[in-house]
Amino acid sequence: MTKSPRSGPEHVAIIMDGNGRWAQSRGKPRLFGHHAGAKRVREIVRACPDHGVKYLTIFAFSTENWKRTQSEVAGLMSLFRRYIQREARDLLAEGVRVRFIGDRVRLDAKLQRLMDELELLTSKNDKVHLTIALNYGGRDEVARATKRLARDVKAGRLDPETVNDETLTRYLDTCLLPDPDLVVRTSGEARISNFLLWQSAYAEYEFIDTLWPDFTRDVFAGIVRDYAGRERRFGAVLT
Ligand code: FPP
Repeated sequence: MTKSPRSGPEHVAIIMDGNGRWAQSRGKPRLFGHHAGAKRVREIVRACPDHGVKYLTIFAFSTENWKRTQSEVAGLMSLFRRYIQREARDLLAEGVRVRFIGDRVRLDAKLQRLMDELELLTSKNDKVHLTIALNYGGRDEVARATKRLARDVKAGRLDPETVNDETLTRYLDTCLLPDPDLVVRTSGEARISNFLLWQSAYAEYEFIDTLWPDFTRDVFAGIVRDYAGRERRFGAVLT
């Protein structure tokens, strides 16, 4: 499989990092940075159609983020609830289909309900597919998928001899999404931090110094342009 070097990414995944540092450098609390980050989410979702990006997947809260202070975690959860309540109508009108990936069980009941409602509300949309990773970890996702797969084997619904990588892919939270073409991380850190581990096997990576609240649609446009100049071989030799 090869993709033309000239084609842009269909699926961009973003590790939105640097909100805390952005706020602290302004003498503000970390949550101020998260609120500024939420505004960028809005801007980047709207920019996707201009660049042929059909799928945008964003890392909003990781399985490790529970280790932050109780007040930061509570502030983030409140921000997610408010984001869903405030944006739902515009997301629906603008053709955005929203999905959530991650383990919902640990999230509070109200947030879970809002997530279910937004998924249902936007389920007929197809212009941009926005996937928000909430309480998400790549290893946790593979472990949960494996548990479901093992249950199906035990119940006689799945023949273990037929299991291959496509089988496991079908059990992942991302089963309805194509693999990401491009994974971006902001704020100068060059780590993938347990994000889309299985799905990013052939993704291109872009690590940029910009902090997430400074990630404008122009920065996004530059990254997408840069990607279009790369050559992707998926292990093959281009002729
Ligand atoms: C990482 O920055 C960012 C997060 C853990 C939260 C991401 C959340 C948002 C961008 C808020 C809006 C999202 C939605 C979906 C409404 P950091 O706090 O680790 O920054 P630091 O590395 O500078 O401390």
